[in-house]
Amino acid sequence: MRRLVTPVLALGWLFWATAAHAGWDSLGAMPAPERQGDALVFKNAQGIVSVQAVASDIVRVRFSPTTAFGRDHSYAVASRDLGPAEARIEVGAARSSLKTAALDVSIRHDPFRIAVRDAAGHPIDEDDPERGIGFAGTQVKVWKKLSPDQYVYGLGEKNGRLSKRGPHWGGATYVMWTTDAYDYADDTDPLYVSIPFYMVLRQGRAHGVFLDNTHRSVFDVGHESTDRLAFGAEDGELDYYLIYGPEPKRVIDRYTALTGRMPLPPRWSLGFHQCRYSYYPESKVRFIADNFRERRIPADVIWLDIHYLEGYNPFTWDKQRFPDPKQMIADLRGRGFRLVTIVDPHPKQQPGSWVYDSGLKADAFVKNPDGSVHAAPVWPSNAEQDPGPSVFPDFSKPAGRDWWGSLMKFYTDDGVAGIWNDMNEPAVFVDPFHTMDLDVRFDNEGQPSDGRELHNVYGLLNTRASFEGLLKQRPDQRPFVLTRATFAGGQRYAAVWPGDNQADWGALRASLPMLMGLGLSGVSFVGSDIGGFAKAPTAELVTRWMQAGVFYPFMRMHTEVGSPDQEPWSYGTRHEAINRRAIELRYELLPHIYNAMHEASGTGVPALRPLMLEYPEDPRTLQIQDQFLFGADLLVAPVLHQEAAQRSVYLPQGDWYDFWTGRRLSGDTTHRVAVSLESLPIFVRAGAFVFRQPVVQHTGEMPGQPLIVDVYPAASSEARLYEDDGESRDYLKGVSLTRRFVQKRAGGAVSIAVGAAEGAWRPSARELRLRVAWPGPAAPRRVRLGSLPLPAPPGGWAPGPDGFVTVQLSDRFDAFELTIEP
Ligand code: GLC
Repeated sequence: MRRLVTPVLALGWLFWATAAHAGWDSLGAMPAPERQGDALVFKNAQGIVSVQAVASDIVRVRFSPTTAFGRDHSYAVASRDLGPAEARIEVGAARSSLKTAALDVSIRHDPFRIAVRDAAGHPIDEDDPERGIGFAGTQVKVWKKLSPDQYVYGLGEKNGRLSKRGPHWGGATYVMWTTDAYDYADDTDPLYVSIPFYMVLRQGRAHGVFLDNTHRSVFDVGHESTDRLAFGAEDGELDYYLIYGPEPKRVIDRYTALTGRMPLPPRWSLGFHQCRYSYYPESKVRFIADNFRERRIPADVIWLDIHYLEGYNPFTWDKQRFPDPKQMIADLRGRGFRLVTIVDPHPKQQPGSWVYDSGLKADAFVKNPDGSVHAAPVWPSNAEQDPGPSVFPDFSKPAGRDWWGSLMKFYTDDGVAGIWNDMNEPAVFVDPFHTMDLDVRFDNEGQPSDGRELHNVYGLLNTRASFEGLLKQRPDQRPFVLTRATFAGGQRYAAVWPGDNQADWGALRASLPMLMGLGLSGVSFVGSDIGGFAKAPTAELVTRWMQAGVFYPFMRMHTEVGSPDQEPWSYGTRHEAINRRAIELRYELLPHIYNAMHEASGTGVPALRPLMLEYPEDPRTLQIQDQFLFGADLLVAPVLHQEAAQRSVYLPQGDWYDFWTGRRLSGDTTHRVAVSLESLPIFVRAGAFVFRQPVVQHTGEMPGQPLIVDVYPAASSEARLYEDDGESRDYLKGVSLTRRFVQKRAGGAVSIAVGAAEGAWRPSARELRLRVAWPGPAAPRRVRLGSLPLPAPPGGWAPGPDGFVTVQLSDRFDAFELTIEP
C-alpha cells in the first residue's frame, strides 16, 4: 500500500512517476482512416486505433501498439447494445470526424489527437495537444487536457477527497490494483476495489470515461502537471469509453447500461446487520440474537466470520462450536434473523476432502506456469490444528465458476441466507505484495493469461460465481453476496464493504467520500464497517458512526478479532438508547430506502448521493463530502467530529424542512446547527414525499404495517413509490406495486393525488397514513377526499402539534385525491 500523493512503494508506480513522459513513444501521425460501420480505424507502423460511436452518446476508443486488435472481450461490460449511434462519418486528408446527435468527435491525423464536443460545441474531452496517446513497451497511456473548471469524481473505492483533484488542485494519482489493506489509513491507495471509471463535471455538464482494461492501471488527475489528466495500464489495450451526460445522473445511467446494474436487493439485506470476527460458539450467536430482541433493538442479520469453520477451511462447520447449524439457523429464522456466513475463495489443499477433490476433478484451480495446481498460505495455514496451504478457484474459467457455484448448496441446504466473499483480491499471506504470484495461469475464458491480467477481476468473478450459484440453488430468491474486492461491473453481483477500516474519526469521515465515490462509479450497495474494524472505538465514535450508518445503503457493524464487544448495547445505557434510536430510524425509513434502492437498480443512480449529483450547477456543492443526499430528497449532515456542539450544513437552493421538527429553512445558504450526542441532522427538500412505517424489530414484521407518507409541500411535485414482496424474483415478471404521488399548492390549499396502482402485487391489508406539513398560519378548516368532506377531528383527520395534518385511510390501491383547505 502506498499513500495518496506521496507515492513510494507500489510495484510499478515508481516507473510511472519517473517516466511520466520520458521513455514514452507517441503514436505520431496517422494516414487517413478506414471506415468500418460506425467506426473509424487508423493504422500506422506503431499501432492501431479505432474510434467508434457505440451509441449516440457513447464513444469507444481502442488503441493497441500492435498491428491488430486482440479478442474483443470484457469482464466488465454487460451490454454494448445501447441504442442507435447513427454516426455521420467524414474522412478528410488532415482530419476525420464522427458526428452523432449528441457528440462531435474530431480526429486530427498528424499528430494523432481526438477531441470531443457536444452538439452545441462545448468542449467535452480533448487529448493533450503535446502528448495524446502514447506507449512504452507493453504500457499504454493517454494524456488529456484538464482545465481549472473541470472537477473529477469517481474512481470507485478511493481514499482522499470526493473531488479527485485534491483540496488545493495539487492533484493526485490513483492506482487500480485490488489490495488487501488491513488497518488502512485515510490516505492509503490502492484499496480493495478497482474501478477505472471517472466522471468529469465542467460548468454543470458531465461526462464519464471508463478504461476497460483489467491490468494494473494508473489515473493521474492533475498531479504530474495540473493541466493534464493521464490514464493508462501496464499492458493490454487502451480501451476506453467516453460517456456523455450532460447531467451527471445521466452519465451513471449510461455507464451502468454499459457495465450493468445492481439487481434489486432482498429487503432483509437493507435492515441492520450485526457482525464481528467472530461470533462463536452457537450459544454466543443465540445470546446476540436474544439481546437484540430483548433490548428491542431492531436487526435482521447475524454474521459468522471464519471461526465457524473447521480450521478456517470454507465449506465446513466446526462441529464443536456449531453442532447443528441447520437447527440454529431455523431457530434464528423463527425470531426474524437471517444468517450470513463468510466464504473465502481459498479451500484448503487437502486430498480426500470433498471440496478439494471435486475442484481437482473439475480442473477448477489456478495453476502454476508448469501446470501444477497453485497453492499458497491463507487462513487455513493459520489453523491451530493441521494447518495447510490453500488452492484458488479459477473463476475466469466458466467451468470453475460453475463448480464454485455448485458448492453454494452446502450453505443453502442449511438455510444460510447470504454469502460473504472476503480475501478475494486475492489476498495471500506472502510478503511483500500479499497476493498470488503474478505468473500463475488463468483460463481467462479460453485465452489463457496470468495474474497481471486477471488479478483485478478475481473478486468480481468470485462474486459472479457465488451469485450465480445461489441463484441456481434458490431460483426464486434474490441472492445476497457481500464482497471486499471487485472491479467495474461488480455491482451486478455483490454489495461492497471497504474492508478493514480503522476505529477512528478520520475513517468515519473518510467513509462518506469513499462510499459516494463508489456510488458515482456504479456501485450503489455499499457500507463501511460501523464502529471501525481495526482497534477499538470510543462510545461516542460508535454512536456517531451508527447515526451516519443509518444512511449507508448497507448497514453493518463489524470489528476485528480480539477487540472489545462492539454491539449497539456495549457502551452503556445512554449510548444504547441513542444507537437504538438510530437503528429504529433505519427501520422507519425502510419503505423510502427500498424505493431508493429500487431506483438505483433501474438507473444506476445511487441512493447515497453527493450533492453535486443533484445540484451540478451549484458551484458550492462541488466539493462537499461531509454531508450527502439520500435519494433526491433527504439531506443528511451526520456529526463527524468528537465532542461537536454544532455543525454547519449547506442547503442548496429551494426550501427545506428540518426532518425532526418540521421547521422550514431556506436554501442557498449555510446553516449552523446546534447538536447534542442525540442529533442526526436531516433536512427534507420542499416537494418531497418521505415514505415510512412504524418501527419494526425486523423486516419480517413489515406486512400489515401502516404506510406513512410524509408530504412536504412545494408549488408542485411528484414521486413514485415502488413496493413488492421484498424477497422473491417475481417482481421481474411485474409482480410489484408502483404508485405516483403528486402534490400541488394553490390558493392556500394543498392537494395530494395518489395514482392508481400499477403492477400485480398488493401488500396485506393496511392503513395509509398521510402526514402533510401544513404550510398555513392556522390549522386547516377542511379536508376533502375527492368531493367528500372528511369528518373533522378527532374522526377522519387531525392537525398535530408538530404542524403536520394527518389523514388516515385504509390503503385501497385505487386513485384518489385529497385536498386540505385553509
Ligand atoms: C478480513 C476481513 C474482515 C474479516 C477478517 C476475518 O480482514 O476484511 O472483515 O473479519 O478478514 O475473516
